[in-house]
Amino acid sequence: MKTQYFTATSLDGFIATENDSLDWLFPLGDLNDSSYPKFILDVGALAMGSATYEWMVRNAEKIAAETGSTWPYVQPAWIFSSRKLPIIEGANIRFVTGDVQHVHTEMRVAAGTKNIWIVGGGDLVGQFYDAGLLDELIIQVGSATLGKGKPLFPRRVLSPVLCLMSVHQMGSGMVELRYKVNKGDLSVDSLKIIKLK
Ligand SMILES: NC(=O)c1ccc[n+]([C@@H]2O[C@H](COP(=O)([O-])OP(=O)(O)OC[C@H]3O[C@@H](n4cnc5c(N)ncnc54)[C@H](OP(=O)(O)O)[C@@H]3O)[C@@H](O)[C@H]2O)c1
Repeated sequence: MKTQYFTATSLDGFIATENDSLDWLFPLGDLNDSSYPKFILDVGALAMGSATYEWMVRNAEKIAAETGSTWPYVQPAWIFSSRKLPIIEGANIRFVTGDVQHVHTEMRVAAGTKNIWIVGGGDLVGQFYDAGLLDELIIQVGSATLGKGKPLFPRRVLSPVLCLMSVHQMGSGMVELRYKVNKGDLSVDSLKIIKLK
């Protein structure tokens, strides 16, 4: 029952260009070669910020062509925004604003024994991290740099909070890194990994 950040980033730490384009990302690798197919089966609820949701609204036709539906998720989703946004037909979504702790409690109930996915963007994930709610980061790092854009995780998190658990190469275009967030109770296993480094 983890709260996870699963995303792809450029090598210099951006998840989208400054004008929310993901066109740079798709040539780098195939999502099906990442842990995504297995990951999504264990997701029971998801959350995203308004820029991420608006990208999905703008790209609804493309998403439908690829997945058969304008909204690709069967899990309930929470969209963070202070604005009134268009609704994607058939999507199981609710709009929320403000403190992430309260929303996380609702998501936990909905997710049951499954995991919670914070889709992005980076600052929203940071809000969950600030509240002590983030357990894991699963990041595909692309072999591309953007120079500027929307940040992966705009927080200062110093050693040994993030513990690298696995590395999986996806051809020459991407590598997937999985990090556990240690919350002050460093386990024997994570200490071993830190010591090995
Ligand atoms: N590379 C990838 O795999 C990947 C994954 C996910 C997303 N993306 C892309 O990355 C970009 C992310 O954009 P972004 O960094 O701007 O982040 P975002 O989280 O998608 O959107 C940020 C906006 O969400 C709203 N928001 C955030 N926290 C809130 C809160 N607690 N209460 C109310 N509203 C809140 C605010 O907007 P308002 O209040 O004005 O609505 C805020 O400006 C998007 O283009 C997305 O498509 C890429």
